[in-house]
Amino acid sequence: MWFNTLESPPLPGLMKEISIEGVRLVITNVDSQIYCFDNRCPHEEFNLSLGCIKKSFVRCALHGYEYNLSTGRCSEKEIPELVTYPVKVKDELIFVQMSEANEL
Ligand code: FES
Repeated sequence: MWFNTLESPPLPGLMKEISIEGVRLVITNVDSQIYCFDNRCPHEEFNLSLGCIKKSFVRCALHGYEYNLSTGRCSEKEIPELVTYPVKVKDELIFVQMSEANEL
């Protein structure tokens, strides 16, 4: 199911916190590519929105692990992948797709 989330993309490199059906997410903009991911680090569930965006990675502020925004893969092999969500942009509106499995 697609959810209309923002009326315009975040400024490049900034993270915008949103919530869909009780799931805390982050939307960010890297070189006009929009990404959406869980606002919860797979390592120890720290808020990723407190970290920073470096190119196409989000860096967790707590221990510094980095997650690829396209694949969710972590810089540390033993850490689970970050959950990412499909995004589409139509007339500046940002839509995020969540399946029922993602909903709490
Ligand atoms: S809690 Fe995010 S890297 Fe440890």
